[in-house]
Amino acid sequence: MINKIMNTQNIKKFFVLGNPIKHSQSPKIHILFAEQFKEFDLQIDYQTYLVEMNFFHENLQKISEIPNICGLNITVPFKEQAYLASIENLSEFAEIAQSVNTLKFDSINKIWLGYNTDGIGLVNDIKNRLQYSIKDKNILLLGAGGAAKGVIFPLLSENPKSIFIANRTKQKADLLVKNFDVYKNQNTILQSDDLLFSNILKNNIKFDIIINATAASLHNQNIIIPDNLINSNNSNNSNNSNNSNNVVLIYDMMYAKNSATNFLTNFATSAKNHNNLILSDGLGMLIEQAAKSFEIWNNKIPNTQIVYATMRSFLDNN
Ligand code: ATR
Repeated sequence: MINKIMNTQNIKKFFVLGNPIKHSQSPKIHILFAEQFKEFDLQIDYQTYLVEMNFFHENLQKISEIPNICGLNITVPFKEQAYLASIENLSEFAEIAQSVNTLKFDSINKIWLGYNTDGIGLVNDIKNRLQYSIKDKNILLLGAGGAAKGVIFPLLSENPKSIFIANRTKQKADLLVKNFDVYKNQNTILQSDDLLFSNILKNNIKFDIIINATAASLHNQNIIIPDNLINSNNSNNSNNSNNSNNVVLIYDMMYAKNSATNFLTNFATSAKNHNNLILSDGLGMLIEQAAKSFEIWNNKIPNTQIVYATMRSFLDNN
């Protein structure tokens, strides 16, 4: 009995905060991670937490009083408010992205420490699961909202040849180029464009990596990528030998509910016809960003490949 009471007291508490939040996969992912560390007696309780609009700070205050509270994931639309709430205690990635998706509670000083694991989640998924090197590649990043902002610095840190940020509202892409210029290697080209890609077409740039960070698919709209932006030789060689020169990576940061019928949400349907493509949705990024949060909170690095397989099959069958 005493043992049981002690164990219950050891359960670390976590929440993912957002609005809406019901469909978040984060609780499932973190429980799967924690199961990998059973022998270390790591027990977690991870739940969704719906925050009413305009009440982020009040809720954060309330949560910090919950016994055994350890950490929070923050999702749309509260990442900027989480950044402001932890502005005195930010990691480098969070400070540069001006956005926080992970809070860790410092129970001694009663403060929240802010991190951003989205960008490293994307980079780790591309490098580790997809075995695709970012170094010296031409990257087209579609979108200039919060999702795009969170991944630019981690992508720049991999020393790509170029990043072109293309957005429906070009001024927003211009601003990101201006703000991130200071963080890039001097050899990396960082430029902006709109979704007609006139600057890119004029300069005849062909991309090795195309990342969708827009919300277009949420509005059932598609972004058409002109064929001549894709650096694929389009030969009939369907060998997916990753990282070979002519293999192009098309990555949608949204994850698909059913990978067989809707693999890339609505994105890149035109690109699908090319050969030598790696197509990916954002499930791997979701799992990798969660893994980084898990490491920050628990000092343990989970195996993400096993959890990817479990989650893919869960999403396909539900
Ligand atoms: P998030 O924080 O998820 O990135 P956001 O800040 O609202 O959300 O940004 C959404 C992004 O998707 C923006 O780049 C937006 O383009 P605008 O800056 O022009 O608004 C882009 N977006 C949304 N709907 C789109 C659509 N139908 N076609 C193209 N881009 C779209």
